[in-house]
Amino acid sequence: MDVSVRFWEPGKEFQRIEQEVMATMRDVLSKGDLIMREQMVDFERNLAAFVGTADAVGVSNCTDGMRLLLEAAGIGPGDEVITVSHTFMATMAVVHQVGATPVLVDVGDDHVMNVDLVEKAITRRTKAIMPVHLNGRLVVMDRLMEIAHKHDLLVIEDSAQALGGAYLGVRGGAWGLAGAFSFYPAKLLGAYGDAGAIVTSDTQLANRVRELRDHGRISKTGYSGWGWNCRLDNLQAAVLDLKLKKVPDWINQRRRLAAIYDEELADVGRIKRPAGPDGGPHFDIYQNYVIEADRRDELVAHLAARGIETLVSPGPIPNHKQPVGLDHFHLPKTEDLCTRVLSLPLNNELDEEQVLEVAAGIKGFYS
Ligand SMILES: Cc1ncc(COP(=O)(O)O)c(C=O)c1O
Repeated sequence: MDVSVRFWEPGKEFQRIEQEVMATMRDVLSKGDLIMREQMVDFERNLAAFVGTADAVGVSNCTDGMRLLLEAAGIGPGDEVITVSHTFMATMAVVHQVGATPVLVDVGDDHVMNVDLVEKAITRRTKAIMPVHLNGRLVVMDRLMEIAHKHDLLVIEDSAQALGGAYLGVRGGAWGLAGAFSFYPAKLLGAYGDAGAIVTSDTQLANRVRELRDHGRISKTGYSGWGWNCRLDNLQAAVLDLKLKKVPDWINQRRRLAAIYDEELADVGRIKRPAGPDGGPHFDIYQNYVIEADRRDELVAHLAARGIETLVSPGPIPNHKQPVGLDHFHLPKTEDLCTRVLSLPLNNELDEEQVLEVAAGIKGFYS
């Protein structure tokens, strides 16, 4: 069966911008600028300006970025971190990796942290909250920051899926103490392999992450203690810097296509669409266009038979029900969503015709 609508198209995107990418790579490679050189510093500066923070620090991937942030913020054994299960596993994993305990709260109708549940989850051990801006939609951050200030808690944003997404005009990553981004190839801003960055306006924290990502080094021969090797490749940084300039256009395109999905699927009673692109204080960037669907798995098969790729994530087994020692949490909304969520194709290369084809496939299934 030929695939007519791919879920993501990294090869096609490369072909469209091939000349610029190859020119950038040729320049970097012929200069021999391979590890933490000026191209990475340029990218960090441009990323911080885009997000609206004082600093950005390039790292190997978002997971490492979040782990280094927790470590740099002094979170470790005996501490609790409040987050969600309805995310990619990495959010909870990093809390475990620093020796702290993940405390999970449920999500709301928009699939992100239900802020109303956070205060009840706070104990004497709580040190931080990690909201996840899933699918490119921000958590209700003004309320979350109020709760954090009241209880003296740190906020570290998992912004892996939300580059350019905003709430009340403030971008994801710029609300809390720090945020972390993923440039995994399927992301809006994708590298040619793994890559990530953290952002913060706390210069001390940024510098601490700079040390930790590079073996604890503070000078050519001096170390501040143990560290890791979690550097962002210079070659990847140069390409990311080039692609960052295209991000505003890519966001507009995604929001335009999301609006078409919304319009086309408005009358399909058996699915629930995500909140619309003009969702009041929210500016969603649609890293994923996620519907809730009755008979989800049959719909997946129906679309696949028509050459349309979709993605079930997270699910069908919720992350806290995986063998990671967190199955004592009861999260009804999360558990229900994992049987119903379906990401429809929405990538930088998708066009209107393809969106109409996907929508027609869905309407055909339920008619
Ligand atoms: C919500 C979320 N958090 C964290 C990550 C981890 O990012 P990375 O693969 O760059 O480590 C991802 C990646 O898919 C993600 O979607």
